[in-house]
Amino acid sequence: MSSSRRSFIRQSAFAALSAVPATGAAASMLRSSVAASPRRQAKGANGKLAVAHVGVGGMGKHDLQQVMSHPQVQIVGLCDMNLQTLATAREMVPGAAHFQDWREMYDALGDKVDAIVCSTPDHMHAPISMTALNRDKHVYCQKPLARLVYENRQLAAVAASKPKIVTQMGTQRFAKAERRLGLTLLQLGIVGKAKALYGWTDRPAGWWPSGQPRPAGNDPVPEWLGWNLFLGVSPERPFVKEAYTPFKWRGFYDFGTGAIGDMACHIMDVPYMALQLGAPKSVWCESPDATDDEYPNQESIRMSFAATPMTAGELPFLWFDGGRKPDLASIGLPTDLKLPNNDGAAIVVGETGVLVQPCDSAPPMIFRNGAQVRFDDPGVKTTNHWHDWVDACLGKGMARAPFQVAGRLCEVLSLGAISSRFNKKTLEYDGAKGEITNDSDANGWVRRPYRQGWAVENL
Ligand SMILES: NC(=O)c1ccc[n+]([C@@H]2O[C@H](COP(=O)([O-])OP(=O)(O)OC[C@H]3O[C@@H](n4cnc5c(N)ncnc54)[C@H](O)[C@@H]3O)[C@@H](O)[C@H]2O)c1
Repeated sequence: MSSSRRSFIRQSAFAALSAVPATGAAASMLRSSVAASPRRQAKGANGKLAVAHVGVGGMGKHDLQQVMSHPQVQIVGLCDMNLQTLATAREMVPGAAHFQDWREMYDALGDKVDAIVCSTPDHMHAPISMTALNRDKHVYCQKPLARLVYENRQLAAVAASKPKIVTQMGTQRFAKAERRLGLTLLQLGIVGKAKALYGWTDRPAGWWPSGQPRPAGNDPVPEWLGWNLFLGVSPERPFVKEAYTPFKWRGFYDFGTGAIGDMACHIMDVPYMALQLGAPKSVWCESPDATDDEYPNQESIRMSFAATPMTAGELPFLWFDGGRKPDLASIGLPTDLKLPNNDGAAIVVGETGVLVQPCDSAPPMIFRNGAQVRFDDPGVKTTNHWHDWVDACLGKGMARAPFQVAGRLCEVLSLGAISSRFNKKTLEYDGAKGEITNDSDANGWVRRPYRQGWAVENL
């Protein structure tokens, strides 16, 4: 790279977000970042942000640790449908009120809470987050933002209608310097206009069960487990010990969003935002062993995005999981490409080079004519994703993955998850209406009916 180019990158890196033409997803991000409306007075002791957590095991425990490490936070409520898990969290925050049912927590805390953190399985993200938004609470919700296309669109729309409310999807890797560097470099056009986009992860193989029939059996529900609360908006089914909770719910259509929903939030966020992508025009999937109840063990998904100012025309996106990967040689990359782990990566093939963005803590790699090119790191800094959100709730700085943007990305991933059920069928998508137009069965998965008694306003 020429020294003038290096210097350009160094000088421009911090200004990159505002330098990008404000269209598509990037525009939403910019709009949400400038919408720094005066915040309300926080309700916690000494003006601290009063936060309540829903789901405090697994990632939820980490979310709790991170949020409560902010000096301006008071944790006022803890909720988990598993009373054993709740007991552990109560030891971490002895003064907080505690509940098994998040709806009772919302009613009991009422005005005493400013903000909600949702770290439950995917199918309950939208109901829990939307109910909080309906009550004008700030929300931090784990990725993927929601399981269903419709839920993602509604969360994005309702968040956009509430400029005083701060939202953030729990993609903490997006706050890392390595990923923000990739975003900046792509926005600066380091590989030229994009011609193709690839992504992959090793999930689900070896991580959670997939491609199986519905688990057989009907075990007694332990008295400490709220099975009905776990099911939430999804249809009733019998409890089967160790089949669903914790963690294994990911492989089921009723609870999870499959490998693409689980990992592409962490992998495709950088190129999705940098290339200002919207909704795909079509999606196609080769998924040999999906069942009526579970996502497949491996799949290849193909989407096509309309051209944007950052692409060289219509953009093909190819996604692989469960051990499948893009053919690196045909992309012009070394076949022994070194990545930090098996989580996966995104590849942007541009007119003048190729950018590889690993999923985890490693900087992007740039290739030209098959050889890696060095570039100066412009000094982008890692921030704490949870603290960014708390600060923004308190009126300082901005949340970097607000629902307005996260919802657009996750709408795409939820569409990919739908395509898993329809092996080798091209599904046409109308992004303005949020409808699959050529298959009514597939369109029936854009939005699912909620179980009786679980209706949520705006969903
Ligand atoms: N950002 C990340 O790096 C990251 C990592 C892991 C998981 N996640 C996300 O976090 C979420 C949880 O994943 P996990 O692996 O921790 O799952 P998990 O099953 O291990 O934990 C979920 C927790 O929520 C509780 N829970 C379930 N339903 C509930 C309900 N209706 N009300 C209250 N509590 C409920 C469970 O008892 C459990 O404590 C998922 O959306 C997942 O995608 C994010």
